[in-house]
Amino acid sequence: MNSNSDITVLKVGGSAVTDKNAAAGSAKADEMERIAREIAGFSGKLVIVHGAGSYGHVYAKQYGLDKGFHEEGFLKTHDSVRELNEMIVKTLRAEGIPAVPLNPLSFSICGDGRLTFLYTDQIAEMLKHDLVPVLHGDVCMDTTRGACILSGDQSLPYVAAALNAKRVGLGSATDGVLDSNGKTIPKITPKSFDSVKQHIGGSAGTDVTGGMLGKVSEILDLAEKTGIESCIFNANTPGNVAAYLKGDTVGTLICKDE
Ligand SMILES: Nc1ncnc2c1ncn2[C@@H]1O[C@H](COP(=O)(O)OP(=O)(O)OP(=O)(O)O)[C@@H](O)[C@H]1O
Ligand SMILES: [Mg+2]
Repeated sequence: MNSNSDITVLKVGGSAVTDKNAAAGSAKADEMERIAREIAGFSGKLVIVHGAGSYGHVYAKQYGLDKGFHEEGFLKTHDSVRELNEMIVKTLRAEGIPAVPLNPLSFSICGDGRLTFLYTDQIAEMLKHDLVPVLHGDVCMDTTRGACILSGDQSLPYVAAALNAKRVGLGSATDGVLDSNGKTIPKITPKSFDSVKQHIGGSAGTDVTGGMLGKVSEILDLAEKTGIESCIFNANTPGNVAAYLKGDTVGTLICKDE
């Protein structure tokens, strides 16, 4: 790893804190609270990005927002993910974490579905004051499509690279990336990706941003470009978030080849 910062970027997957098989807006409040308690035990500099889960993906799919602008769908999706963000920030605050809501729509721009710019100077300043910025999957204006979905899996590596993060963890709802027998793949590198790709698919729930395959592709790209390693682990297993934040390798490690 080529980072000398002490910043950790943690994704709290929408699949870990909402029911993605349900209709729009099904939060798992108990899981949010437990994860918040585990995060509260960490004293380092931390940026949180959470997924949209059933809050964003359901509307995004209904209105085809991953393909372009639709006024009602755009507003509904944004309002929905903001509602989830507010809930998560409140839960973190209740555990004493100085969480700050940051809606990526307000400071990002995409082109043809890809993030081209996300302002991070305010995040860097917040970290100097030990605040915990909490970003999320969001709708985004797109210079070619009008609008698109900016997934947490896409904004997270961008933020990690911009801040030269030391550690990146993605908590989801499976024991990391699984092979065809349901066993955790311990490590994925750009070289091994070709052979394991066949086992990795989209989401079992509603997801417009590629599920597990989208996630792995985004953070493999981060590893290749910056050398920053990531772990994908099960945030629904009690103790995993705390163990990861403590410094353990949990779940599947995504890193560069030697
Ligand atoms: N090989 C695999 N290993 C693990 N999960 C897989 C695999 N292939 C497909 N999946 C699916 O991908 C899902 C994880 O992606 P998903 O986008 O649903 O979660 P998330 O990123 O935590 O949620 P969100 O996008 O709302 O933040 C798993 O729950 C599973 O259904
Ligand atoms: Mg996802």
